Amino acid sequence: MIIKNIGELVGIVPEGVLRKQGAEMAETGVLKDAWLAIEDGKIKAFGKMADLVGHDVPGSAPSVIPGGDSSVIPGSDSSVIPGGDSSVIPGTDRESIDAQGGMVLPAFCDSHTHIVYAGSRDGEFLDKINGLSYEEIAARGGGILNSSDLLHGTSEDDLFEQSMVRVREMMRKGTGAIEIKSGYGLNPADELKMLRVIRRIKDSVPALVRVTFLGAHAIGRGYTHEGYVQAVVDMMPQAAEYADFVDVFCDEGFFTVEDTSRILEAGAACGLRPKIHANELAVSGGVQVGVKHGALSVDHLERTTDVEIEVLRGSETMPTMLPGSSFFLGIPFGRAKEFIGAGLGVALASDYNPGSSPSGDMRFVMALGCIRMRLTPVQALNAVTLNSAYAMGLSDITGSITPGKRADLLLTRPGWTLTKLPYLYQTPFLRTVFLGGRALE
Ligand code: NIG
Ligand code: FE
Repeated sequence: MIIKNIGELVGIVPEGVLRKQGAEMAETGVLKDAWLAIEDGKIKAFGKMADLVGHDVPGSAPSVIPGGDSSVIPGSDSSVIPGGDSSVIPGTDRESIDAQGGMVLPAFCDSHTHIVYAGSRDGEFLDKINGLSYEEIAARGGGILNSSDLLHGTSEDDLFEQSMVRVREMMRKGTGAIEIKSGYGLNPADELKMLRVIRRIKDSVPALVRVTFLGAHAIGRGYTHEGYVQAVVDMMPQAAEYADFVDVFCDEGFFTVEDTSRILEAGAACGLRPKIHANELAVSGGVQVGVKHGALSVDHLERTTDVEIEVLRGSETMPTMLPGSSFFLGIPFGRAKEFIGAGLGVALASDYNPGSSPSGDMRFVMALGCIRMRLTPVQALNAVTLNSAYAMGLSDITGSITPGKRADLLLTRPGWTLTKLPYLYQTPFLRTVFLGGRALE
């Protein structure tokens, strides 16, 4: 299949680049007036329309990619078209889609969500409007424990159906890879129920799904603090049958650095790499403990100091910020620009959950990144695609326009540019979402 007459093909990244850091965050490959070929669900090749028209093969001259501004320039050969078999690419027997000048970009990657939950917490929304903080709502039995009670009373099938409504909404809005956490079970039976539901979602959708065991999200009802930490450690082998990652809410009033260390060690013994909730409510030590245990990402970071920036430098850990939570809770936004200035990468994710970020709209996340964190549209794009894919261990197979990666692509309506995405942040922009090369119904 070939998509022709693409106004701008945005998000081209050379093969082998798994994340962007520092000044690289301001770069992405852009090809104007382009085509892109998909084969076996993957990006096969792309190039300039001028090299397609009237030829059987795309021109041999690399029609590379105007330089100049910050929005540009991957490797010199990025418009040409690995894959050898170029003579078939323009073939008329292939299905062809006319993009009519629309933009094509990588589908969004959302590396931090809690979208498996039961019922609704709109009552807490009213408490919040009336002035209660997230911590105060939690202390009154709202918050995570409220979701845990609702989940306990919901059948597995019902939980799956309720959660699938959100997953479908996210895919329709352009998300092609999703990390989903447990953490509203808070006892062995209900945590496993959540993990089975996440597995079922993974097996049912064309989006890529990564599974995280967040048993340590809050102290389960009926447990002492110490007893619950031990219970999480004890759940690990069974959780690891479903999970790719282990997460701990390492924050004031939830789990300490010592708890976190214990749980991460138990996770490592079962082959689970950490992703950590850190520094949402206070400077928690979560960044340090995460980096020490080789976390793939440390997430939230609303209250981070220069010390944490220093700790992250030179690590394999992706700092991940969740501007939807900052927006909804009215807490500080992460210091993304300073992280980038210090040479770090930044990923942005939705944190979609019923208590602190009731939206999985990654275009809105991108807009908050630009409007509230002052990222450029290219920086924000890298943060919601390649870097967020990295934060799920998926950036070798999705998150950019790179031959050989999955064709997880967004085709916009005509007239859209990268800058307009976060700027006109409420205007419908999508024409077609392709996941694994197939148009989403
Ligand atoms: O990432 N911070 C901890 N967990 C979620 C909130 C979960 C909830 O309130 O249900 C978060 O913000
Ligand atoms: Fe979260």
